[in-house]
Amino acid sequence: MVYAIEAHDLRKSFPLKVRKRAGASGVGDTGGAEGAEGAGGDAIAASVEAVRGVTLYVAAGEVFGFLGPNGAGKTTCQRMLTTLLSIDSGSAQVAGYDVSKNPHEVRQQIGYISQLGGADLPATGRENLRLTGRLYGLAPRQVEQKIAQLSRLLSLDELLDRKVRTYSGGQKRRLEIALGIIHEPQVLFMDEPTTGLDPQNRLSLWQHISKLREGGMTIFLTTHYLDEADQLADRLAIIDHGQIVAEGTPAALKGQVKNAQGQQPTLDDVFFEKTGRSLRDISWEDEK
Ligand SMILES: Nc1ncnc2c1ncn2[C@@H]1O[C@H](COP(=O)(O)OP(=O)(O)O)[C@@H](O)[C@H]1O
Ligand SMILES: [Mg+2]
Repeated sequence: MVYAIEAHDLRKSFPLKVRKRAGASGVGDTGGAEGAEGAGGDAIAASVEAVRGVTLYVAAGEVFGFLGPNGAGKTTCQRMLTTLLSIDSGSAQVAGYDVSKNPHEVRQQIGYISQLGGADLPATGRENLRLTGRLYGLAPRQVEQKIAQLSRLLSLDELLDRKVRTYSGGQKRRLEIALGIIHEPQVLFMDEPTTGLDPQNRLSLWQHISKLREGGMTIFLTTHYLDEADQLADRLAIIDHGQIVAEGTPAALKGQVKNAQGQQPTLDDVFFEKTGRSLRDISWEDEK
């Protein structure tokens, strides 16, 4: 089996300087934070174990969902897989290349759409696409061909000559996807692609992501939305406190659990079974 993404026992800690007053308790919302007790009033060093031994496999052409609450370690994992963050220990291969040993080759094979997005707001969509295409080394004619093709794929026609700052959230996301795939990557990473979008725009984006999949692209997306993982992912992993707690197809995962009210099990029932908490409640807390 050739995997588009393989990760073995990935780990990442962040050093954290915590200023702790005598008698104060806790280091804030740091999940697996570890720190030595300093003398009262001292600044003490602590670390957040953001990713604590993640192993996963994604087959070529698969949509893989990485589902978990805020702070679970999704972005940290994704940033290691995309070479943006060094790996503390463990190893990963993406599109056949080792992310630590061959970061340059990995970068040529992937697209990455971060949670914040990367479009230049005062420029138009077309200007953004032209610049990005040229940065990837495409010839001017190729760039124009790609813009026409991406415009059809992601319904950008009406938008291309407007400044990005006038776009709605969903329109901006579609442009960001176009920017992320203009160089025809084998593997596309998306961090929380629909967070902040209204239901209608989310649905439209799901349809566009499905179209990319039909074109054969491998997609690794993070989300804290249960329905998004359920709808889009061929397979998914549930991550909590830096560790994978469940993995499989949505149907297989739901088949392993019972719903407390006797209804059809959901991925939230899976999350509850593994963690004792409801992802629905945690995500709701985050958005308040
Ligand atoms: N640069 C950083 N410095 C310190 N802590 C960080 C940093 N990035 C992430 N963390 C911490 O690591 C944990 C995982 O964060 P993250 O990977 O962003 O989670 P998610 O994407 O699932 O919301 C959190 O506790 C977060 O506060
Ligand atoms: Mg994140």
